[in-house]
Amino acid sequence: MKLTGKTAIVTGGGGGIGRATALRFAKEGAKVVVADIDSVNGEETVKYIRELGGSSFFVETDVTNPEQIKELIEVTVSKYDGLHIMFNNAGIGNSEVRSVDLSVEEWDRVIDINLKGVFLGIKYAVPELIKSGGGSIINTSSLLGLKGQKFVSAYNASKAGVVLLTQNASLEYGKYNIRINAIAPGVIDTKIIDNWKQNERKWPIISRANALGRIGTPDEVANAVLFLASDEASFITGTTLSVDGGGLTF
Ligand SMILES: NC(=O)c1ccc[n+]([C@@H]2O[C@H](COP(=O)([O-])OP(=O)(O)OC[C@H]3O[C@@H](n4cnc5c(N)ncnc54)[C@H](O)[C@@H]3O)[C@@H](O)[C@H]2O)c1
Repeated sequence: MKLTGKTAIVTGGGGGIGRATALRFAKEGAKVVVADIDSVNGEETVKYIRELGGSSFFVETDVTNPEQIKELIEVTVSKYDGLHIMFNNAGIGNSEVRSVDLSVEEWDRVIDINLKGVFLGIKYAVPELIKSGGGSIINTSSLLGLKGQKFVSAYNASKAGVVLLTQNASLEYGKYNIRINAIAPGVIDTKIIDNWKQNERKWPIISRANALGRIGTPDEVANAVLFLASDEASFITGTTLSVDGGGLTF
């Protein structure tokens, strides 16, 4: 097992990529704290982990709220005696409209969750990772953090921000043996793409727009996150790993 003795937090752990990763971490021996704004789905992830024989609990958390992230880290450290892995994964999409038609409220909400949420995760996890003698932070960016697409201005900007925030933090905290990387998933089969699936004209194109000609699964992303979290990635920091079936090069 690759994560024996480690404690991990997964934000957005009630949803597709977060849940798959929480389960993957638990199967590799980690104690997993599931954080999500959605308590029903978050508790369900915990239930699945416990059914596997893993150790886990849920903390209702809005990643835009500094006090709640602080508390999430505090309760994790007090119950599990330390923190080693932080997966800053919670995120939302944005309505597909031109920038001029995007409301300022929606812009703020997308940037708050997708970018400020990652900043807060780094801000409050790093001091505990230093106490643990090092660790790994993985931030969820997107294929759309690496290339522009029409009608998703806030999402594009938030996810591009995650790439450089990851580089910045990796430079600041490498000397404490903390590795900080991002993943950039392509189209992955989760709730977030439900409205794309309803679009009969676009979906056949979107769902095949990569070298492999198919969408990815949450488990395929979880495998990449596990690699970055584990000691197998011991000399990898500051990078953004595409998990997109070749979507970036398509
Ligand atoms: N599915 C894709 O195609 C895809 C592609 C690239 C990047 N991503 C990114 O992957 C991450 C996970 O998304 P997913 O695809 O699993 O979708 P999902 O909707 O299944 O999961 C997202 C989870 O985040 C939670 N969440 C939303 N706002 C929150 C908040 N303020 N605080 C705490 N939790 C909150 C939701 O309740 C949900 O459980 C997101 O950052 C998303 O942008 C997804």
